Amino acid sequence: MKKSISVIGLGNRGTEYMGFIKAMHGRKAYIHSLCDIRQQALDDFAPAFDVPKYRQYLSTDDFFSRGVVSDALIIATQDASHYEITKKALETGYKYILLEKPVSGNENEYKELRDLAKEKKAILIVCHVLRYSNYYSKIKKIIASGKIGDIVSINHTENVGYFHFAHSFVRGNWRDEFTSTPSILAKCCHDLDLISWFMDSPCVSVSSTGEVGHFKKENAPAGATPYCTGGCKAKKNCPYDAEALYITDPFYKAKFIKYMGRTLTGKANNSKADIRKAIDCGDYGRCVYMCDNNVCDHQLVTMKFENGAVATLEMTAFSDKMFRQSHIVGTKGELICYGAKLEMRIFGGEHHSVFTGSPGFTGHVEGDIRTVSNFIKIICGEKTDLKDVTTIEATVASHDMALAAEESRKNGGIPVLLKESVKA
Ligand SMILES: NC(=O)c1ccc[n+]([C@@H]2O[C@H](COP(=O)([O-])OP(=O)(O)OC[C@H]3O[C@@H](n4cnc5c(N)ncnc54)[C@H](O)[C@@H]3O)[C@@H](O)[C@H]2O)c1
Repeated sequence: MKKSISVIGLGNRGTEYMGFIKAMHGRKAYIHSLCDIRQQALDDFAPAFDVPKYRQYLSTDDFFSRGVVSDALIIATQDASHYEITKKALETGYKYILLEKPVSGNENEYKELRDLAKEKKAILIVCHVLRYSNYYSKIKKIIASGKIGDIVSINHTENVGYFHFAHSFVRGNWRDEFTSTPSILAKCCHDLDLISWFMDSPCVSVSSTGEVGHFKKENAPAGATPYCTGGCKAKKNCPYDAEALYITDPFYKAKFIKYMGRTLTGKANNSKADIRKAIDCGDYGRCVYMCDNNVCDHQLVTMKFENGAVATLEMTAFSDKMFRQSHIVGTKGELICYGAKLEMRIFGGEHHSVFTGSPGFTGHVEGDIRTVSNFIKIICGEKTDLKDVTTIEATVASHDMALAAEESRKNGGIPVLLKESVKA
């Protein structure tokens, strides 16, 4: 029998997962119920997934009051609501939950969810999607094979991309650590998860520095106005001009998040006029130097692991493209990981490029697709080995490291010791 899956939060992520379920797993699973606080979201998506009115909910209270209505649940609301909703889902009795990251910016909360999931014998999986991609699975396999020896160090950079950073972390949903989480958790819990997973050893000490260096009032160019379309005199030479980014720049329209119009307007079917209005007076039309952002635009984290290895993570807003790069050094060889390319160099031996999948199909979207496939396999009982699955148990390490980095950063970079260190 087909497995039923309900979804809470019909934004970019939730509906992307729904699309994969319908398009790729339609013989095994279907969307049962939908819950979103916006009627528009229910109206936009319920018809395409054949979800009848009586299985559409405008509040989680209403949704959970019906008890367990489906075999599994996806929670893809914004960061600040993850803890409450997941707690309720576990208490209601859901046994298979896919939760968007980050779990919470509060250590007590994510550890409470870990313990509650264990007590309820529920499988709570956090969407550290990169782990499921061919690219990162391949790296993990090479490390585990011992080919490059014991890991000595990992030097990893998350190049967020100037336009992506401006969209999400200056103008958008993740600009305020108090309503979402610090950028080192919101953006880099994936990177910290990968580092911890590759190390296969608990992190014991973290130190960090970083700040909101660029996106602040004193850096506004002469003639800048609060909204880009409000008569800004610096518009022409500003890479963050909202009109160029969201309307006139063909690169942006073609390559960056295709559903940007939906984020700007809150509507799946948005017109040019809706986007224009959103730019003229909405959050995404604001001057990047005059926003209410407080999350770091560059941050460096150094980590020491129980096995003696060390790692650094650099998060930067300032790159032309969005990509990650890592240099993973072992006692017998090294891995050079750059965007979708992966090269293995064995000291005194073979040097070669490692094939990780079709070009153009590596990275985040591939990870998203495989995260859903993995979840479906688990719900269907086809996968029972959870060793490399990003369960809440495994995710604690990345969240602990991110919070320790913030604590260190706010205290001038002094090392923070992780008392209860765990590995991912
Ligand atoms: N795994 C990843 O790589 C990845 C990438 C991007 C975002 N995320 C995370 O995914 C989550 C969702 O991001 P998004 O871009 O889809 O956000 P979004 O704002 O597009 O969607 C969130 C949806 O949740 C709804 N919502 C908010 N509060 C709700 C509530 N209490 N009950 C029901 N519905 C509610 C909103 O109306 C909206 O439709 C965030 O936590 C984000 O940090 C993860």
